[in-house]
Amino acid sequence: MRIPRFELERYFARHEFSARYLLACSDCEPLSMAELVSMADHDAGELWQSLRLGYTESAGHPTLRAEIARAYERIDPAGVIVAAPEECIFLAMTSLLAPGDHVVCTFPGYQSLFEIARSIGCEVSFWEPDEENSWRFDPDKLAGLLRESTRLVALNFPHNPTGYLPSASDFAEVVGLVRDAGAILLSDEMYRHLEVEEDATLPAACDLYDRAISLSGLSKVYGLPGLRLGWLATRDLEALERIGEMKDYTTICHSAPSEILGIIALRNRVAIIEGQLARVRRNLARLDAFFEENGDCLRWTRPRGGSIGFPRVECTDDTDRFCAELVEDADIMLLPGSVFSYGKRHVRLGFGREDLPEVLDRFGTYLAGRFR
Ligand SMILES: Cc1ncc(COP(=O)(O)O)c(C=O)c1O
Repeated sequence: MRIPRFELERYFARHEFSARYLLACSDCEPLSMAELVSMADHDAGELWQSLRLGYTESAGHPTLRAEIARAYERIDPAGVIVAAPEECIFLAMTSLLAPGDHVVCTFPGYQSLFEIARSIGCEVSFWEPDEENSWRFDPDKLAGLLRESTRLVALNFPHNPTGYLPSASDFAEVVGLVRDAGAILLSDEMYRHLEVEEDATLPAACDLYDRAISLSGLSKVYGLPGLRLGWLATRDLEALERIGEMKDYTTICHSAPSEILGIIALRNRVAIIEGQLARVRRNLARLDAFFEENGDCLRWTRPRGGSIGFPRVECTDDTDRFCAELVEDADIMLLPGSVFSYGKRHVRLGFGREDLPEVLDRFGTYLAGRFR
């Protein structure tokens, strides 16, 4: 299997640890180890203190899988497998797809959601949003892409990079369409629970449809990407078994310390998510003012969920150059739309971090000096 390079990850590899100000990250403010461990209840504290660093159970620590299952309505611990989030995508695609299968995927998006399928030899159709309609993904367009031979539909809501979140009725329609097509639904829900409006959280796909597989993890909403902890949750135990067999060829089992820290995080999910969501909402209010002030240069479609957005840049027609100059001259990292193969008019901007107001001030000063 030959696979093209992952453009977004290569861009991060180049700049994430050298640029001083990060305005492109999709994860929320990372928690410190001390903060997380201090949240442990007695039982989890014991697990942490007595942990031996042997191999772990291939599907994940039973207590961790039980905590994960508790976050869903209709999922048993047996319907959960633990792996790094990116690994979960790889495992699902490589174990469930074969050359010639038809796949539909939201686009633009996180590259592995369609690239792995393409590299396997699948035919991939893109379901694209309408920027002029607040980046809406129209279910009618999806209906037009589905075929009798469609094997899998890969969705990602809240959406990376636009921040689009469908209404509950659009989402129900979408799940119904996939069900009627008899396809597997791989639902990337990495940003679920970071909804801007109250009560806008969509049901998990795995609770709505028995052939849906929900992907989630601790990287974005919990601010714990360094744990590399994600999971797939489904009622399709046959599919999960095949995914588990594929994992024997990647990591075999998860990292033992990460699993215990994950148990601590999940047992404190309400408090952790509340803190991250409050920061995201605060930062969005700050962004409203920023885009108002810089409306001559940047056009903003306010995200409905997640910690990232995809503004259009009006003061240049080459966001590759714009981002290169920004990191060179002001030490600020933004992500050009080209890493999503989406032309040169957009940038991805992240707003889950504590220093966002300071970075925006610098960005505003840069724009004023460079373009006015
Ligand atoms: C939509 C989406 N899915 C999956 C991932 C993978 O998560 P991780 O980097 O924690 O493996 C990301 C990371 O950016 C993402 O944005």
